[in-house]
Amino acid sequence: MSEYIHVGSATRLTKLTRGSSRVYPCNGEDVAVFRTREGYVAVSDTCPHMGASLSHGRLSGNQLECSWHEWKFNTDTGVSDARDWCCLNVYDVRIDGDKLFLRPRPKPEKPIRDRSAPDASDEEKWIEWDPDRYFKKPKDHDND
Ligand code: FES
Repeated sequence: MSEYIHVGSATRLTKLTRGSSRVYPCNGEDVAVFRTREGYVAVSDTCPHMGASLSHGRLSGNQLECSWHEWKFNTDTGVSDARDWCCLNVYDVRIDGDKLFLRPRPKPEKPIRDRSAPDASDEEKWIEWDPDRYFKKPKDHDND
């Protein structure tokens, strides 16, 4: 099990309204941390479809809907219900005083088809996902 990583101050996070989010850099990617009724959930901020920021998505229960093409992701597993090979990184969230910590969860063992050998009838065979190919806009992270 990996360790929690200190990613910044939790001050602004605790002031969020339910369903809204902030983005923190963690583990080599941007991570969107959402406030929920029960606490917080954290997933990769970059949509694996075409790179939209998932921090602008709509969270309903454990379903996060991307604002661009409405793919939905389970925030417990990271798996997309639109394309089962498509999986976000999911993080455990811990707040200790004013400090926010994230811990990467292991990916689910088997959601995912082998993307190197798509089914011949798979419409997705034309999509070669490369996150660096799509916009990787630098984000301003507040180091408050
Ligand atoms: S960019 Fe997210 S569903 Fe298309």
